[in-house]
Amino acid sequence: MSMPRHFLRDDDLSPAEQAEVLDLAAEVKKDRFGFRPLEGPRSVAVLFDKPSTRTRISFAVGIAELGGHALVMDAGTSQLGRGETIADTARVLERQVSAIVWRTAGQERIEEMAAGTAVPVVNALTDEFHPCQVLADLQTVREAKGGLAGVVLAYFGDGANNMAHSYLLGGATAGMHVRIAAPASMRPDPAVVARATEIAAATGGSVTVTDDAAAAAAGADVLATDTWVSMGQDGKDTSLYEPYAVNEDLLARAASDAIVLHCLPAYRGKEIAASVLDGPRSRVWDEAENRLHAQKALLVWLLERSP
Ligand code: CP
Ligand code: NVA
Repeated sequence: MSMPRHFLRDDDLSPAEQAEVLDLAAEVKKDRFGFRPLEGPRSVAVLFDKPSTRTRISFAVGIAELGGHALVMDAGTSQLGRGETIADTARVLERQVSAIVWRTAGQERIEEMAAGTAVPVVNALTDEFHPCQVLADLQTVREAKGGLAGVVLAYFGDGANNMAHSYLLGGATAGMHVRIAAPASMRPDPAVVARATEIAAATGGSVTVTDDAAAAAAGADVLATDTWVSMGQDGKDTSLYEPYAVNEDLLARAASDAIVLHCLPAYRGKEIAASVLDGPRSRVWDEAENRLHAQKALLVWLLERSP
């Protein structure tokens, strides 16, 4: 079988490749309707096992703007939701679509899809990683700070979730200093921390995991957070996260020109204060828009490198 390029986790792109995708994302943003490599149209399957607003919209709009056709499908309306195997689904899809975008639960599910198909597979969020979101976040930081290498990004809250893991890998790849502030019981997967540390050693970045929110915020260029209750975790006790809320006090500890990111959906008064989310340092709406540009660039880049 021919070998396509996939984007299943942030470190599937080398530092140079990540920079190429981000450069292309900036070009695509400047000339939004000028790139139509999917004209024909070529189709892309966009599959959801979990809810979504931004990911669904940005892939559907982006694929259309590239001249292609997005086949957006919920698992509940497909046979995958009734127990058809991932391997059989992969074989059916590869004969009709040019790429597969999938939001699912376990990382092993998307890895199985990728192993079983001849077309690029893109992770649109798993329990472990949300790499498309972090590409958009990196684009947003580049726009605000003029570059990524050496920028300090501090993330607060659930250190064991997909966003924390993707900030670690994606930020380290970009040569950033990534700080994760989380309760001791909610730290990132040690294997991800080890991989991020290894990448950072090569890119000039660094990785810090701490339970001290104030120390993580000190002088940071970017403050980031995410919901304390990820999809599939309803009923979770969130009291232990309260010291990690991104509020005015925490923001006052950051650099004077710090920006604030949140992948959304946000819960004001929980992981982030309304005054911060809706305030002058917030870049969350640019961040949400950049999903469109970053993912268009990613798809173009992956398809150019896949047989
Ligand atoms: N940030 C993000 O992925 O949002 P959705 O869950 O709405 O797609
Ligand atoms: N950590 C969140 C991200 C939502 C975009 C979740 O998995 O629900």
